[in-house]
Formats: sequence, C-alpha cells, structure tokens
Amino acid sequence: MGDYEQFIVNIKRKTGIDLSKYKEAQMKRRLTSLYEKKGCRSFKDFFDLMNADANLLNEFLDRMTINVSEFYRNAKRWETLEKKIFPRLLSENKRLKIWSAACSTGEEPYTTAMVLSSYLPLSQISIVATDLDANAIQKAKRGVYSERSLAEVPSEKKRQFFTKEGDFYTVSEEVKRTVTFRKQDLLADRFDSGFDLIICRNVMIYFTEEAKDQLYKKFSAALRRGGVLFVGSTEQIFNPAEYGFEAEDTFFYRKTN
Ligand SMILES: C[S@@+](CC[C@H](N)C(=O)[O-])C[C@H]1O[C@@H](n2cnc3c(N)ncnc32)[C@H](O)[C@@H]1O
Repeated sequence: MGDYEQFIVNIKRKTGIDLSKYKEAQMKRRLTSLYEKKGCRSFKDFFDLMNADANLLNEFLDRMTINVSEFYRNAKRWETLEKKIFPRLLSENKRLKIWSAACSTGEEPYTTAMVLSSYLPLSQISIVATDLDANAIQKAKRGVYSERSLAEVPSEKKRQFFTKEGDFYTVSEEVKRTVTFRKQDLLADRFDSGFDLIICRNVMIYFTEEAKDQLYKKFSAALRRGGVLFVGSTEQIFNPAEYGFEAEDTFFYRKTN
C-alpha cells in the first residue's frame, strides 16, 4: 500500500474521517505543504508525529477542512432565495425545516435567518447547522466576526442584526437563537428527513465524483417533495433528474418525486 493510501487508513481509524472521498491531488497538495513545514518527509512521518502531538491533529483538521466563509456569499443567490424560493416554500408550508450543511463558522445559517426574517419573525425561524469541524462550530456559536466577513451584508441588515465592538461584529442574540449547531460528517453520518430547504455550498467541490453522487442521493432522500437543495456557485448538478431534482433556478434544485 502506498504512503498516502496507508495514511488514509490510519486517519480513518484515528478520527473516522474518510480522506478517500476527497479529491486526491488537491488534498495531498494541501497536506504535503503542512507536513513539510513540520519537517516530515512522508505521510508516515506525519502520522507518527501526529500521534505524539495532539496539536498537530488539530492543525491537520484545520488544513483539511478549509473554513472560509462569509455572510451573503454570492449575494445574487441570496436574492433569488429571498425573492423566489422562500415565497414558494412559504406558500406550501408556514414553518420551514431548514438545514445548513457544512456551515463552517456560521455565516451561512445566520444569513439564512436574516433573509427569511423578511417574511417571518425570528422567533418562528429554526435552522439546523452542521459541520465536521468542532472548532468551526465553536466559533459559529460565539458569533463574532471581522469586518471582512460582513462585506456583502446589506447596510440595513447590518444595523439590525449586528453590534460592533472594536474591530469586531457580534450577531444579535435573536439571530443566534434561530440556529442549532451540531457536529456531523456528511460523508459518514445519517441524515434527518422532511426538509424544505437544504443549503450545502462550497464543500462538494472537494469531494470525489462518487462521494458527490452518494451525497446528492442522500440529500434528495432528506428533502420533502417540492423541497429545495441550494448549492454553491461552482457546484451545478449536471444530471439533476438522476437524483429526482429539477433546476428551479441556477444553483437551486427542487425535488420532484
Ligand atoms: C469552504 S467551507 C464552506 C462554508 C459555507 N458553506 C459557505 O459556503 O460559505 C467548507 C466547510 O465544509 C466542512 N466539511 C468538509 N468536509 C466535511 C464533511 N465530510 N462533512 C461535513 N462538513 C465538512 C469544513 O469543515 C468547512 O467548514
């Protein structure tokens, strides 16, 4: 077995994370630069060092997860969600069951609550948000962000939902209360069902074609008929019908059966 293949087996045993479902060249490149920085010469050295140093395991997780996010990321899509998708979903269901999958540090589920607040009081909004990375979830629960993550937030929403302290912005308690955060591995764990909306953006690009195929099937099974999967702006599904989806708009897929 090759050096990287053995590393995949070891990491699966140690953390439950299955690196074989992530695109290999990309992942290898990212991890190689980390292990070289630590003075290792192979994935085997890297794994041995990780066993001796718990901080390194954290650094590895940090490197492999890529937590980059921002509020209203690709603002036009959030406008489509607000003006087209939410009105249709709300005409069918007054209480929406919403999941932000791979939510990173919380910008995405909090944006969802802010957008939906055009139609419903925050007290009637409830969103589940999950990620593989426990550190990202901790940060999401704190809800404190730098100015950079807020660049796309409309100014009236900024006034309404954030307080500024020094260089940082804190999300209001009312918005925080709409989101329940949980740790979850999209590639290994079971999904809940009956969702009106699943938002999964900017993580599928890291997965292999087989992993994506399985994930689309799981998302489709987790949505109610008429429910919507909202994907990232480079993550179009090329054969939506195969998963029981049809495009309701670019990057929004409605479950048809
Ligand atoms: C680039 S961020 C995307 C955040 C947000 N969805 C957005 O579009 O701004 C990717 C996130 O996917 C998470 N992730 C990676 N693999 C995952 C997996 N197997 N299960 C759940 N989350 C995963 C990472 O921890 C990271 O927080």
